This record gives sequence, structure tokens and C-alpha cells, in this order.
Amino acid sequence: MDIVSRFKTYSVDFVDDLQGIATLSASDETFFVLDRKVYDLYKKELPAFPEGRLFLINAAEENKNIDTVLQICEQMTNMASKRNTHLVSVGGGIVQDITGFVATSLYRGIRWTFYPSTLLAACDSCIGGKSSLNYKGFKNLLGSFYPPDEIFIYQNFFRTLSPRDYCSGLGEVVKFNVIAGEDGIEKIERDIDAILGHDYKKLQQYVETSLAFKKKFIEKDEFDRGVRILLNFAHTFGHAFEVSSNYAIPHGSAVALGMMAANYISVQRGFISEDYALRIEKVCHKILQNIELQKEWFDDATIIGAIRKDKKQTGKNITAVFIQKEHTLGIYHDVKEQEVIQAVNHVIDISQS
Ligand SMILES: NC(=O)c1ccc[n+]([C@@H]2O[C@H](COP(=O)([O-])OP(=O)(O)OC[C@H]3O[C@@H](n4cnc5c(N)ncnc54)[C@H](O)[C@@H]3O)[C@@H](O)[C@H]2O)c1
Ligand SMILES: [Zn+2]
Repeated sequence: MDIVSRFKTYSVDFVDDLQGIATLSASDETFFVLDRKVYDLYKKELPAFPEGRLFLINAAEENKNIDTVLQICEQMTNMASKRNTHLVSVGGGIVQDITGFVATSLYRGIRWTFYPSTLLAACDSCIGGKSSLNYKGFKNLLGSFYPPDEIFIYQNFFRTLSPRDYCSGLGEVVKFNVIAGEDGIEKIERDIDAILGHDYKKLQQYVETSLAFKKKFIEKDEFDRGVRILLNFAHTFGHAFEVSSNYAIPHGSAVALGMMAANYISVQRGFISEDYALRIEKVCHKILQNIELQKEWFDDATIIGAIRKDKKQTGKNITAVFIQKEHTLGIYHDVKEQEVIQAVNHVIDISQS
């Protein structure tokens, strides 16, 4: 699949092995940044990386910051290649966000190859070109747009993901199917058990359709000014859940919870039927099995405070995307704190039932 972007046209391909990394390591111009866990787990399949050209990241939110970016830049500037330096990164969304920032900043932009190692990064974040860093206690406050030149998806990586991280990735897959409407929901209702059981043939279809779906939005609106904002469905609430739980709820699982909160408001506003919301809840429930929710994460003031800290919230009322009548998506700037509190209480009630 090719993605057309203002920067370049870039490619996404599925691969059956990591031979491409070995080939890249033979060049003097490549520098590697890997998730430390992935490096340890896949050592046998990876080449011996040249001295001084490997940086390992402990993938934790507290390391997704400018200090890590600068440490990588410092090591990379020691290379002779300078502007021809080719960055190759392997990891999930955290490694992607950090290395995307390096790729866009160093020498005003260098060549970048990315191997997503989590389902979340493969089905969603690897395309679209966003890179974000946490700054001064705010999530994703620093950032830019800069896509990789090429993306290679190696599904074997998903075999070693914890159930928590595997299910988190499924949160985004479910979100894309829900946005797609009735057909998408029917499909995911039918296949969710197989995917939860790691049916990789089926999973590949879902990763492909998720990316194809996202492609339509980002090619129309690369810089998040128009239709791409609709992909933020479930994220206003999802981001708040991530932050209020101090990232104990991973991104995609928070999105699944956020979907339930958003749909509750859609039902209250008369946009969708209770039955439609319930069907989506059932699928979300299945992928949230391994997340134990703690009541204090959902305290009214904490959630509202977390939403208000989101950079996308610019007005007095809260902005969120909802499924509206005819199952299309719409952006609303008139959401009241009280509506959010009721929706969050609903999410806790059904998650604990
Ligand atoms: N740039 C974007 O467009 C975008 C979109 C969504 C999310 N994000 C960001 O992505 C981050 C979340 O990323 P994520 O959910 O992909 O995971 P992650 O990078 O947070 O990694 C989650 C865990 O999985 C481990 N891991 C990674 N690959 C593995 C593998 N193959 N086997 C075993 N363990 C593995 C990591 O070491 C880590 O412990 C958040 O910071 C979020 O803000 C960015
Ligand atoms: Zn997301």
C-alpha cells in the first residue's frame, strides 16, 4: 500500500522475516533504534549491529521525551554520513514517536524506515506521520508531522506481545470498524473471537483494512485541520483515561473505553439507539477483559481535569466526536462537563458488571 503525503509517497508492506534489517545494517549510513524488549526477544533473528550505531529504548511514557531524542541525536551526529544518515527504528508507538521526532529534526529531516512491533503501531499509528513527545507533565505536547519513507509489518512480532498490549491494539482495530458503520460492526462482531485467539490470517485483513480506512482520511487532510479530526472519535475520553490512570490503561484500551463513553452521550442525545451502542459495548468488553479498572481513576474532577489538559480542547465547553444519526461521525463543540461525568459513570458501571 502506498500513502501519498505532502512530504513524499511512502509504502507499507507485510514481510515474513527480518532479513531487510540485516541488509540495512551492512550500510555505513544506517543507525538503529530498537525497543529494548524487542531487541532481547528477537536477538536471534536480528543482525549484529555495528558498534556505535544502535540505541535501545525502554518503552515507557516517561522516556518519550526530548532528552531521549537528544541522546539519539548525539550518537547519530558522530556518524560520518550526516545528511545521508538513514534511521531504522523497530518498536511500538513510543519508539515511533521518539524516532519520528529524531527523523524530522536531525539535519532538517532524514531518511527513516520503521518496523512497527506492536499491533497498535501496525494497524494505526505507523501511517499518518504524527510524532509526539510528552513535556512538563503534558502528554504529546511537542510534536510534528513526518512520516517514515517505508514501513514493514512483521506480524510475528505480535506473538510476544503481552495480552494487555495485544488487546490494546485491538482497541484501534475495533474503532476503525465502528467508524466504518454497520458493515464494519457486523464484521468485527463476527471475527473478534478469532482475532483474540491470534488468527493472524484474519488479523492481517483487519490491519490492512484499518490502514486503508485511515489512508482515506490522512490523504485528504494530512495536517489534522478537517476530516482527519473525525479519527479522533473516542480519543477525547480515551486520552483522559490514559492520563488519569497514569498509563495503567494502555492507549488502545483507553480508546475502547472512550468509545463506550462517547456512545453513551450519542444515545442520550438521540443520535443512535441503545441497541446499537450495546452491540459496540459487547465487542469492547471482550478486548477489555485483562484490564482491571480502579475507581479512583474515574473520579469526576480527575477526568474533567485530564480532558481540559488535552491540547485539542480550546473552548469553554468540551469538544468531542460522536456517532450521529445515519451512523456518520460529527464533531461537536458543545459537550457539557455533566454529560461527560454521566458517560464516565456509565462506563464504570458496565465495566464492573
Ligand atoms: N504517533 C501516533 O500517531 C500515535 C498514535 C497512537 C498512539 N501513539 C502513542 O503510542 C504509544 C503507545 O504505543 P504502543 O501501544 O504501540 O506500545 P508501546 O510502544 O507503549 O509498547 C508497549 C509495550 O510493549 C512492548 N513491546 C513492543 N513490541 C513488542 C513485541 N513485539 N513483543 C513484546 N513486547 C513488545 C514495549 O517494550 C512496551 O513494554 C503512546 O505513547 C501513544 O501516545 C502515537
Ligand atoms: Zn489512537
